[in-house]
Amino acid sequence: MTEEESHIESRMEGKDIYSPPEEFKEQANVNDPEIYKYAEENYEEFWADLAERLDWYEKWDEVLKWDPPHAEWFVNGKLNAAYNCVDRHVENGKGDKKALIWEGEPMDETKEYTFSELKDEVSKFANGLKELGVKKGDIVTFYLPMIPELAIGLLACARIGAPHSVVFGGFSPSALKERINDAESKFLVTADGYYRRGKVINMWENAEEALEGTSNVEKVIAVERIGRDDVEYEEGRDVVYEDLVKDQSKECEPEKMDAEDMLFLMYTSGTTGKPKGVVHTTGGYLTGTSATHNYVFDIKDDDIYWCTADIGWITGHSYIVYGPLANGTTTLMYEGAPDTPTKDRFWQIIEKYDVTKLYTAPTAIRLFMKWGREYPDKHDLSSLKVLGSVGEPINPKAWKWYHEVIGGGECPIVDTWWQTETGMMLITPLPGITDLKPGSATHPFPGLKADIYDAAGNSLEANQGGYLVIKRPWPSMLRTLYKEPERYVETYWSEYENDIYFAGDGARIDEDGYFWVVGRIDDVLNVAGHRLSTMEMESALVDHEAVAEAAVVGKPDEVKGQVPIAYVILESGREASDELASELRAHVGNIIGPIGKPAAVRFTRDLPKTRSGKIMRRILKKLEKGESAGDTSTLRNPDIVEEIREMVEE
Ligand code: PRX
Repeated sequence: MTEEESHIESRMEGKDIYSPPEEFKEQANVNDPEIYKYAEENYEEFWADLAERLDWYEKWDEVLKWDPPHAEWFVNGKLNAAYNCVDRHVENGKGDKKALIWEGEPMDETKEYTFSELKDEVSKFANGLKELGVKKGDIVTFYLPMIPELAIGLLACARIGAPHSVVFGGFSPSALKERINDAESKFLVTADGYYRRGKVINMWENAEEALEGTSNVEKVIAVERIGRDDVEYEEGRDVVYEDLVKDQSKECEPEKMDAEDMLFLMYTSGTTGKPKGVVHTTGGYLTGTSATHNYVFDIKDDDIYWCTADIGWITGHSYIVYGPLANGTTTLMYEGAPDTPTKDRFWQIIEKYDVTKLYTAPTAIRLFMKWGREYPDKHDLSSLKVLGSVGEPINPKAWKWYHEVIGGGECPIVDTWWQTETGMMLITPLPGITDLKPGSATHPFPGLKADIYDAAGNSLEANQGGYLVIKRPWPSMLRTLYKEPERYVETYWSEYENDIYFAGDGARIDEDGYFWVVGRIDDVLNVAGHRLSTMEMESALVDHEAVAEAAVVGKPDEVKGQVPIAYVILESGREASDELASELRAHVGNIIGPIGKPAAVRFTRDLPKTRSGKIMRRILKKLEKGESAGDTSTLRNPDIVEEIREMVEE
């Protein structure tokens, strides 16, 4: 057996175990495994204690009211999320502590806000919103780049009880329009533009185009990020942010919100139909995000915490804004791309600010691997203590690279599984307790019950692949889908009994009780009656040293039902050839079994991706079927679609 083969074999068996370093364990906030037993047996008390970490105007009468599939948490409790994220830290003597560090894409542009300064800015914007007529319960839509006004805006809305609906800044005008209309939002906050890879992106033009298709928007607030001189504001509708806030009072009494009042709406794509408006409420959401952030990142008072997600996604809401700020943690925001001006920008930022906790996505890690370790190696990354991963399964090769090259072999990696709908991390290690297996998100958060079911609702045995389900309600769970209560029940609570949450992911639990999430079930193939995960095949492909990135999709096959087709981006310096294609097929066959061998390997320079970096397998699937690619407007690189079509048709 070659070294490579024995390495693969040991990872397939999950033999690689990374225990928390002794010193880390000793200093960790949570290092007693008893927490799992306690939380399981005293679930409501466990969460009530974590809710006590927040400040409440009025305490709850009941921790949990569970009328499946409808949950209420901290019933009749009253609180304000912005007060909890900002004011209380000032009142507790942390006014001069840095709350928000912002780094613009242009190298010399930074801004920092202490908790006191943040409180002032939030209050001024909140007063500005009120002046424009925003009332408690009005939904305010945000279409902004990664600038401080986005974080400030969220908190300003929370302060006055106006739910926000953030639309990712990279979305197209039609996506923005659809979301504004669905939310019947009368208010839009946007910007004149932003920097991306050194270029100015004209955001205002997109916003204008979206506004042409909406009739409900009455007021538009424009942040002048760039200071362009070609923006034509519409009298009576448009207000410049600076003009709105400059003379506002720094005093704005926070609204006393019910724990179950909507904090925000976040649209997420379903497998079918229009985007789903996921509704999150105030008390449970803030309890869940602050508690998980504290435990999973082992938060200390002097942390400099950096989550590289965009606030336009749930990760940014929960773990750039609400979780960290509720914990009084210094949170860092970066506006731009990881390769601007050079491929070491992330590492330069970490060194500059002595970042201690980093939270990023496997797709980014694989990109960094492709660029090579010389970029991180140029920088002192010794401030780092915990490394997080989220958004998709992390393949063991990327996990180990992250651990060794970025973490210097000393930082626990927290691979956190969760969803827009779950609001907070649900399956995750606790860095001072959990023995890690690269590629596994490990165990449910204390107290939670998760399982793997087959189609009939039987709990499966170890290592049997099936559907991931959550068997207990949790505080930050979605409460409903906006204006679609039936769809809420049907999508998440109808596959099995109505108290079993259907996550839509395929997974297995290994013989040691570790969860291995393989991805959305719509990416699971059935090849000659065998269920195969495209994600596992992709992981196998990227384990090969020639492969930088891979996507596998099913192609209809008369005999086998479906066969897997592999799309492969090679590491720089590697040449595509028939020999390499055969080698890769054999490689996957070796790891997964002969049935997993891709029927074809297609070498490509790029893959169709959303702006957030997710591979759009749906488009590849359609091209493989000989169908039209469908809507490519949300792609970061629509031009690759034609190239792939030609390759497929050849
Ligand atoms: O398939 C799972 C995958 O991302 C999905 C949720 O996507 P979204 O709502 O956009 O939220 C992403 C950020 C929380 C899940 O159904 N996913 C997320 N994290 C992981 C993951 N898959 C495997 N491992 C993870 N750590």
